[in-house]
Amino acid sequence: MQFNIGALCAATLLVLVSPAHAADSVAYKDPETGFTFAQFNAQYVIGKYITYRIATPSNVAQGTPYDAVVQVAAPVDVGWTGLAWGGYMTYSPLTVAWQNGNSATVSSRYATAHQAPSLYTGATYTLLKKGTHVNSTYWQYTAKCTGCTSFTGQGNRNVTLNPTGENRVAFAYSRTKPSNPSSSGSAIQVHDVTASWTVDFGSASNANFAELVQRNA
Ligand code: HEM
Ligand SMILES: *[C@@H]1O[C@H](CO)[C@@H](O)[C@H](O)[C@H]1NC(C)=O
Ligand SMILES: *[C@@H]1O[C@H](CO)[C@@H](O)[C@H](O)[C@H]1NC(C)=O
Repeated sequence: MQFNIGALCAATLLVLVSPAHAADSVAYKDPETGFTFAQFNAQYVIGKYITYRIATPSNVAQGTPYDAVVQVAAPVDVGWTGLAWGGYMTYSPLTVAWQNGNSATVSSRYATAHQAPSLYTGATYTLLKKGTHVNSTYWQYTAKCTGCTSFTGQGNRNVTLNPTGENRVAFAYSRTKPSNPSSSGSAIQVHDVTASWTVDFGSASNANFAELVQRNA
Protein backbone atom coordinates (compact mmCIF):
# COMPACT_ATOMS: atom_id res chain seq x y z
CA MET A 1 0.00 0.00 0.00
CA GLN A 2 1.30 3.43 -0.92
CA PHE A 3 1.15 6.42 1.42
CA ASN A 4 1.02 10.01 0.26
CA ILE A 5 3.08 11.96 2.80
CA GLY A 6 1.75 15.37 1.70
CA ALA A 7 -1.85 14.28 2.10
CA LEU A 8 -1.16 12.77 5.52
CA CYS A 9 0.35 16.09 6.72
CA ALA A 10 -2.69 17.99 5.41
CA ALA A 11 -4.93 15.59 7.29
CA THR A 12 -3.09 16.27 10.56
CA LEU A 13 -3.49 20.06 10.11
CA LEU A 14 -7.24 19.67 9.54
CA VAL A 15 -7.56 17.73 12.79
CA LEU A 16 -5.76 20.49 14.72
CA VAL A 17 -8.06 23.33 13.61
CA SER A 18 -11.29 21.67 14.86
CA PRO A 19 -12.51 23.55 17.97
CA ALA A 20 -13.09 21.41 21.06
CA HIS A 21 -15.29 23.74 23.11
CA ALA A 22 -18.73 23.51 21.44
CA ALA A 23 -20.72 21.52 18.95
CA ASP A 24 -19.59 22.05 15.38
CA SER A 25 -22.85 20.72 13.96
CA VAL A 26 -25.97 22.69 13.09
CA ALA A 27 -29.57 21.47 13.06
CA TYR A 28 -30.95 20.77 9.58
CA LYS A 29 -34.45 19.62 8.67
CA ASP A 30 -34.31 17.62 5.44
CA PRO A 31 -37.39 18.45 3.35
CA GLU A 32 -37.01 15.24 1.34
CA THR A 33 -36.96 12.65 4.15
CA GLY A 34 -38.47 14.70 6.98
CA PHE A 35 -35.64 13.88 9.40
CA THR A 36 -34.09 16.53 11.60
CA PHE A 37 -30.33 16.03 11.43
CA ALA A 38 -27.26 17.42 13.13
CA GLN A 39 -25.22 18.47 10.09
CA PHE A 40 -21.54 19.12 9.52
CA ASN A 41 -19.76 20.10 6.30
CA ALA A 42 -16.37 18.41 6.25
CA GLN A 43 -13.79 20.09 4.02
CA TYR A 44 -11.94 17.38 2.07
CA VAL A 45 -10.10 19.60 -0.40
CA ILE A 46 -9.86 23.39 -0.24
CA GLY A 47 -13.31 24.84 -0.87
CA LYS A 48 -15.09 21.47 -1.28
CA TYR A 49 -17.21 19.71 1.34
CA ILE A 50 -18.79 16.37 2.16
CA THR A 51 -21.97 16.89 4.19
CA TYR A 52 -22.53 14.50 7.12
CA ARG A 53 -25.91 14.33 8.83
CA ILE A 54 -26.96 12.26 11.86
CA ALA A 55 -30.54 11.77 13.11
CA THR A 56 -31.50 10.03 16.35
CA PRO A 57 -34.72 8.98 18.09
CA SER A 58 -35.94 11.07 21.03
CA ASN A 59 -36.59 9.65 24.50
CA VAL A 60 -33.55 7.37 24.57
CA ALA A 61 -32.41 6.51 28.11
CA GLN A 62 -28.72 7.26 28.76
CA GLY A 63 -26.59 4.13 28.35
CA THR A 64 -29.05 2.14 26.24
CA PRO A 65 -28.29 1.34 22.57
CA TYR A 66 -30.31 3.15 19.94
CA ASP A 67 -30.52 3.31 16.15
CA ALA A 68 -29.36 6.33 14.18
CA VAL A 69 -29.88 7.52 10.63
CA VAL A 70 -26.87 8.77 8.74
CA GLN A 71 -27.10 10.82 5.56
CA VAL A 72 -24.04 11.79 3.53
CA ALA A 73 -23.95 13.98 0.42
CA ALA A 74 -20.62 13.75 -1.40
CA PRO A 75 -19.41 15.38 -4.62
CA VAL A 76 -18.95 12.84 -7.41
CA ASP A 77 -15.15 13.10 -7.24
CA VAL A 78 -15.22 11.50 -3.76
CA GLY A 79 -13.95 7.92 -4.07
CA TRP A 80 -15.08 6.73 -0.66
CA THR A 81 -16.09 8.43 2.56
CA GLY A 82 -16.09 7.11 6.11
CA LEU A 83 -17.70 8.16 9.38
CA ALA A 84 -16.01 7.01 12.60
CA TRP A 85 -18.64 7.07 15.37
CA GLY A 86 -16.08 6.99 18.17
CA GLY A 87 -14.10 9.98 16.87
CA TYR A 88 -11.06 7.88 15.92
CA MET A 89 -10.33 5.25 13.33
CA THR A 90 -9.71 2.49 15.84
CA TYR A 91 -12.20 0.81 18.21
CA SER A 92 -15.12 2.58 16.57
CA PRO A 93 -17.83 1.57 14.10
CA LEU A 94 -16.82 2.88 10.67
CA THR A 95 -19.58 3.69 8.19
CA VAL A 96 -17.75 3.49 4.87
CA ALA A 97 -19.62 4.31 1.66
CA TRP A 98 -19.12 5.02 -2.00
CA GLN A 99 -21.09 5.67 -5.16
CA ASN A 100 -22.45 2.59 -6.92
CA GLY A 101 -24.03 3.64 -10.20
CA ASN A 102 -27.25 5.48 -9.38
CA SER A 103 -27.06 4.43 -5.74
CA ALA A 104 -24.49 3.89 -3.01
CA THR A 105 -22.89 0.98 -1.21
CA VAL A 106 -22.55 1.20 2.56
CA SER A 107 -19.93 -1.00 4.18
CA SER A 108 -19.70 -1.71 7.91
CA ARG A 109 -16.08 -1.79 9.13
CA TYR A 110 -14.02 -1.75 12.33
CA ALA A 111 -10.30 -1.50 12.95
CA THR A 112 -8.10 -2.20 15.95
CA ALA A 113 -5.02 -0.71 14.25
CA HIS A 114 -4.26 1.89 11.59
CA GLN A 115 -4.63 -0.68 8.83
CA ALA A 116 -7.34 -1.53 6.31
CA PRO A 117 -10.43 -2.08 8.52
CA SER A 118 -12.24 -5.43 8.61
CA LEU A 119 -15.90 -6.00 7.87
CA TYR A 120 -17.92 -5.50 11.08
CA THR A 121 -21.13 -7.34 11.94
CA GLY A 122 -21.68 -5.29 15.12
CA ALA A 123 -23.30 -2.54 13.06
CA THR A 124 -25.84 -3.17 10.31
CA TYR A 125 -27.31 -0.76 7.79
CA THR A 126 -30.59 -0.39 5.93
CA LEU A 127 -30.44 1.97 2.99
CA LEU A 128 -33.42 4.32 2.92
CA LYS A 129 -34.47 4.61 -0.72
CA LYS A 130 -35.94 8.06 -0.52
CA GLY A 131 -32.75 9.84 0.58
CA THR A 132 -30.41 7.77 -1.59
CA HIS A 133 -29.71 9.07 -5.10
CA VAL A 134 -27.13 10.37 -7.56
CA ASN A 135 -27.09 13.39 -9.85
CA SER A 136 -24.41 14.95 -12.05
CA THR A 137 -22.62 16.63 -9.11
CA TYR A 138 -23.39 14.58 -5.95
CA TRP A 139 -24.07 11.09 -4.72
CA GLN A 140 -26.06 10.81 -1.54
CA TYR A 141 -27.10 8.00 0.75
CA THR A 142 -29.39 7.81 3.75
CA ALA A 143 -29.18 4.71 5.95
CA LYS A 144 -30.48 3.49 9.27
CA CYS A 145 -27.71 2.04 11.43
CA THR A 146 -28.25 -0.44 14.21
CA GLY A 147 -25.06 -0.72 16.24
CA CYS A 148 -23.38 2.59 15.48
CA THR A 149 -24.10 4.27 18.82
CA SER A 150 -22.97 1.43 21.15
CA PHE A 151 -19.71 -0.41 20.66
CA THR A 152 -16.58 -1.80 22.25
CA GLY A 153 -14.20 1.12 22.52
CA GLN A 154 -10.55 1.48 23.44
CA GLY A 155 -9.50 -0.66 26.42
CA ASN A 156 -12.51 -2.99 25.96
CA ARG A 157 -14.84 -0.33 27.37
CA ASN A 158 -18.52 -0.37 26.47
CA VAL A 159 -19.19 2.96 24.83
CA THR A 160 -22.68 4.37 24.23
CA LEU A 161 -22.85 7.77 22.59
CA ASN A 162 -24.71 10.43 24.57
CA PRO A 163 -28.22 10.52 23.04
CA THR A 164 -28.90 14.10 24.17
CA GLY A 165 -25.48 15.77 24.16
CA GLU A 166 -22.20 16.14 22.35
CA ASN A 167 -20.22 13.33 20.76
CA ARG A 168 -16.93 13.50 18.91
CA VAL A 169 -16.99 11.79 15.49
CA ALA A 170 -14.50 11.76 12.63
CA PHE A 171 -14.48 11.37 8.89
CA ALA A 172 -12.10 10.02 6.30
CA TYR A 173 -12.02 10.77 2.60
CA SER A 174 -10.30 8.99 -0.24
CA ARG A 175 -10.20 10.21 -3.81
CA THR A 176 -9.78 6.60 -4.96
CA LYS A 177 -12.93 4.72 -5.90
CA PRO A 178 -13.16 1.14 -4.57
CA SER A 179 -12.29 -1.54 -7.11
CA ASN A 180 -15.61 -3.42 -6.75
CA PRO A 181 -18.25 -0.74 -6.08
CA SER A 182 -21.26 -3.09 -5.92
CA SER A 183 -19.70 -5.13 -3.08
CA SER A 184 -19.64 -3.92 0.53
CA GLY A 185 -16.57 -6.12 0.95
CA SER A 186 -14.58 -4.28 -1.69
CA ALA A 187 -10.98 -3.39 -0.99
CA ILE A 188 -10.44 0.32 -0.30
CA GLN A 189 -7.37 2.51 -0.58
CA VAL A 190 -6.16 4.54 2.40
CA HIS A 191 -7.68 7.98 2.96
CA ASP A 192 -6.21 11.25 1.74
CA VAL A 193 -7.78 13.40 4.50
CA THR A 194 -9.25 12.83 7.97
CA ALA A 195 -10.70 15.23 10.57
CA SER A 196 -12.97 15.11 13.61
CA TRP A 197 -15.76 17.32 14.93
CA THR A 198 -18.34 17.52 17.71
CA VAL A 199 -21.96 16.61 16.95
CA ASP A 200 -24.80 17.80 19.15
CA PHE A 201 -27.07 14.74 19.27
CA GLY A 202 -29.57 16.93 21.13
CA SER A 203 -30.28 18.74 17.86
CA ALA A 204 -30.50 15.43 15.94
CA SER A 205 -33.50 14.18 17.89
CA ASN A 206 -36.68 12.97 16.11
CA ALA A 207 -39.87 12.18 18.05
CA ASN A 208 -41.26 10.27 15.03
CA PHE A 209 -37.99 8.47 14.22
CA ALA A 210 -39.48 4.98 13.61
CA GLU A 211 -42.27 6.37 11.46
CA LEU A 212 -39.79 8.39 9.37
CA VAL A 213 -37.63 5.28 8.85
CA GLN A 214 -40.68 3.41 7.54
CA ARG A 215 -41.81 6.29 5.36
CA ASN A 216 -38.41 6.52 3.65
CA ALA A 217 -37.67 2.79 3.42
C1 HEM B 1 -7.02 0.96 3.72
C2 HEM B 1 -7.67 1.47 4.74
C3 HEM B 1 -7.04 2.36 5.81
C4 HEM B 1 -5.72 2.51 6.18
C5 HEM B 1 -4.51 1.80 5.63
C6 HEM B 1 -5.70 3.54 7.22
C7 HEM B 1 -4.56 3.97 7.86
C8 HEM B 1 -4.50 5.02 8.77
C9 HEM B 1 -3.30 5.54 9.37
C10 HEM B 1 -1.88 5.00 9.13
C11 HEM B 1 -3.65 6.57 10.18
C12 HEM B 1 -2.74 7.41 11.06
C13 HEM B 1 -2.00 8.46 10.26
C14 HEM B 1 -2.94 9.50 9.71
O1 HEM B 1 -3.45 10.33 10.48
O2 HEM B 1 -3.17 9.51 8.48
C15 HEM B 1 -5.08 6.72 10.08
C16 HEM B 1 -5.82 7.67 10.72
C17 HEM B 1 -7.19 7.80 10.65
N1 HEM B 1 -8.05 6.98 9.95
FE1 HEM B 1 -7.54 5.46 8.75
N2 HEM B 1 -6.97 3.96 7.45
C18 HEM B 1 -7.81 3.26 6.62
C19 HEM B 1 -9.19 3.36 6.57
C20 HEM B 1 -9.96 4.21 7.34
C21 HEM B 1 -11.40 4.27 7.31
C22 HEM B 1 -12.32 3.39 6.48
C23 HEM B 1 -11.78 5.24 8.17
C24 HEM B 1 -13.23 5.61 8.41
C25 HEM B 1 -13.67 6.72 8.96
C26 HEM B 1 -10.56 5.82 8.75
C27 HEM B 1 -10.49 6.87 9.66
C28 HEM B 1 -9.33 7.44 10.16
C29 HEM B 1 -9.30 8.59 11.03
C30 HEM B 1 -10.52 9.38 11.50
C31 HEM B 1 -7.95 8.83 11.34
C32 HEM B 1 -7.35 9.96 12.20
C33 HEM B 1 -7.61 9.75 13.68
C34 HEM B 1 -7.07 8.43 14.16
O3 HEM B 1 -5.86 8.26 14.24
O4 HEM B 1 -7.87 7.58 14.45
N3 HEM B 1 -9.48 5.15 8.24
N4 HEM B 1 -5.58 5.74 9.22
C1 LIG C 1 -27.74 16.94 -6.44
O1 LIG C 1 -27.75 16.24 -5.23
C2 LIG C 1 -27.32 17.01 -4.12
C3 LIG C 1 -27.23 16.09 -2.93
O2 LIG C 1 -28.40 15.38 -2.73
C4 LIG C 1 -28.25 18.18 -3.91
O3 LIG C 1 -27.80 18.97 -2.82
C5 LIG C 1 -28.28 19.02 -5.16
O4 LIG C 1 -29.22 20.06 -5.02
C6 LIG C 1 -28.64 18.17 -6.37
N1 LIG C 1 -28.49 18.95 -7.58
C7 LIG C 1 -29.45 19.05 -8.49
C8 LIG C 1 -29.14 19.88 -9.67
O5 LIG C 1 -30.53 18.50 -8.35
C1 LIG D 1 -19.99 -4.72 28.12
O1 LIG D 1 -21.29 -5.14 27.77
C2 LIG D 1 -21.42 -6.54 27.66
C3 LIG D 1 -22.81 -6.85 27.10
O2 LIG D 1 -23.78 -6.10 27.73
C4 LIG D 1 -21.15 -7.17 29.02
O3 LIG D 1 -21.28 -8.58 28.94
C5 LIG D 1 -19.75 -6.79 29.48
O4 LIG D 1 -19.50 -7.28 30.76
C6 LIG D 1 -19.54 -5.29 29.46
N1 LIG D 1 -18.13 -4.99 29.67
C7 LIG D 1 -17.70 -4.03 30.48
C8 LIG D 1 -16.22 -3.84 30.56
O5 LIG D 1 -18.46 -3.32 31.13
